[in-house]
Amino acid sequence: MKLILLGAPGAGKGTQAKFVCEALDIPHISTGDIFRKNIKEKTPIGITAKSYIDRGQLVPDSVTVEIVKQRLSEPDCEKGFLLDGFPRNLYQAEELKKIVAIDAVIDIEVPFERLMHRITGRRVCKACGESFHVDFIGEEKTCKYCGGELYQRADDNETTVGARLKVYENETAPLIDFYKKEGVLKTVDGDKAVEEVCAEILKAIQ
Ligand code: AP5
Ligand code: MG
Repeated sequence: MKLILLGAPGAGKGTQAKFVCEALDIPHISTGDIFRKNIKEKTPIGITAKSYIDRGQLVPDSVTVEIVKQRLSEPDCEKGFLLDGFPRNLYQAEELKKIVAIDAVIDIEVPFERLMHRITGRRVCKACGESFHVDFIGEEKTCKYCGGELYQRADDNETTVGARLKVYENETAPLIDFYKKEGVLKTVDGDKAVEEVCAEILKAIQ
C-alpha cells in the first residue's frame, strides 16, 4: 500500500503514521524527520534545511524532491510506504506522480484553532522520537517508553507555528483538491482520541 498522510502542522500525522506503518508493515517516510536528522548531524542538507525550518518556510523543492526520490528507490519501499509531510505543494505532488502511483491519500482534519495548542504543547523524545503532549504528561522530562530526554522542537514556538500554518493554508491545502480530482482522497476526523483516529484511517484504506 502506497500512502500519503496529509494534514496541517499538528494534525497528528507523525502520531498516526507510527500506528499505521506498524499495522501495514510499511516504512514511515517523514521529510521533517529526515531534515531534523540532517540538522543534528550538521550535514550540508541539514545546514540548508535549518535556515528554512527555523522560519517555518518550506525547504526548497530541489532539495526535498531529490531526498524523497532517493528514499523511495530503496528496496524496503517496494512493498509500499507511508509519506508524512510530503508532498507539501503542487510541484512536489506533480513530481511524485511522475515516479509512483499512490493508492490513497488520508487527509487528517483538525479544527484550525486546535493546532497551535497541539504543537506548542508537544514534547519529543530525543532518543526514540516518540511525541507527547503536556496535557497528558505535564512537566515530565523523561520518555515513558525508553527513558530518553524529552525536548521541544525548535520550530514549535508560537511565531514559527504561525508561519507554518500560513504556509500550510497557501501551499499545502490545495493538495486536497488535487488528490480529490485524482480520486484517491479519504478524509478522516482528526479531532478525536488517537486510537479512534487510527481506527478510522485503517477503515478508510481497507
Ligand atoms: P514536519 O516535521 O513535517 O512538521 P509539520 O508538517 O509542521 O507537522 P508536525 O510534525 O508539526 O505535526 P504532525 O501532524 O506530525 O503532528 P503530531 O503527530 O506530532 O515539517 C517540519 C518542517 O520541515 C516544515 O515546516 C518545513 O520547513 C520542512 N519540511 C518538511 N517536509 C517538507 C517538504 N515536503 N517540503 C518542504 N519543506 C518540508 O502531533 C502534534 C501534537 O498533537 C503532539 O503533541 C501529539 O501528542 C498531539 N496529538 C496527536 N494526535 C492527537 C489527538 N488525536 N488528540 C490529542 N492530541 C494529539
Ligand atoms: Mg510530524
